[in-house]
Amino acid sequence: MTDYIKNLEWRYATKQYDSTKKISPEDLEMLKKALQLSASSYGLQPYKILIIENQEMRNKLFEASWNQSQVTDASHLIVFAIPNHITLQHIEEYMDNISKTREIPLESLAPFKEVIENTILPLPSEIQQTWAAKQTYIALGNLLSAAAHLQIDTTPMEGFNTKEYDKILQLDKQGLATTVIAAIGYRSENDTNQALKKVRKNQENLFINI
Ligand SMILES: Cc1cc2nc3c(=O)[nH]c(=O)nc-3n(C[C@H](O)[C@H](O)[C@H](O)COP(=O)(O)O)c2cc1C
Repeated sequence: MTDYIKNLEWRYATKQYDSTKKISPEDLEMLKKALQLSASSYGLQPYKILIIENQEMRNKLFEASWNQSQVTDASHLIVFAIPNHITLQHIEEYMDNISKTREIPLESLAPFKEVIENTILPLPSEIQQTWAAKQTYIALGNLLSAAAHLQIDTTPMEGFNTKEYDKILQLDKQGLATTVIAAIGYRSENDTNQALKKVRKNQENLFINI
C-alpha cells in the first residue's frame, strides 16, 4: 500500500483532541499552502478561510457548534466562508491577479472574463451561494488529505449553527457566510474512535464501470 493510502486509512474524524499539542508553524504553513493550491471552478476561489487559534473566540463558538469539544480542544479551527453575493469586483480582482501573475495584458482576458460574468453574475444569490459552497468543500478535502500526509488529525464538521457563527465571527458584517468548518490538531489517546474500523461502501457498490 502506498503511504498516501496508508495515511488516508490512518485519518479519522477525530472526536477528542489533546489540547496540549499544537501544530507547528511549519506544518501550519504547509496546510495553508494546500488550501491555497485548491482547485476551484474557473479558478475564482470564491471564499475566505479563517484560521482560528484564539481560545476565547473558540470558547464563544463552542455552544454554536452543538457543544462539540473539537472546536475548543483542537490546535486550530478552520472556518470556510463564502460571499453572500458574487460581484463584478470578485471577477475583476481575479483578472488582475491572472494578468499580473502571468504577465499578460488585461485586455487579452476579456473573453474569459465575459464567460465568468455571463455564467455567474446572472445567477440568483442562493444558486451563487450553492456554487461557491461547493468550492469550499474541495478545499476542505484538500485540507484533510494534506493533514493526513503530515499525520495531523482533522474533523470536518457541519454540526454547527451557521447564523451564530456568522454573528460571532462578524462575517455577516463583511457579507460573508460560513459553509463548513474543520478542527485540526492531534488526537487524544483517550479518543476511542481511533480504534474503530473504517466503514466504507465496498467497491462493487461504489463504482460503476462503463
Ligand atoms: C461535511 C462533513 C461534515 C461532518 N460533520 C461532523 C460533525 O459535525 N461532527 C463530527 O464529529 N463529525 C463530522 N463529520 C465526520 C463524519 O462523520 C466522518 O467523516 C464519517 O463518519 C467517516 O468517518 P471517518 O472520517 O472517520 O473515516 C463530518 C464529515 C463531513 C465530510
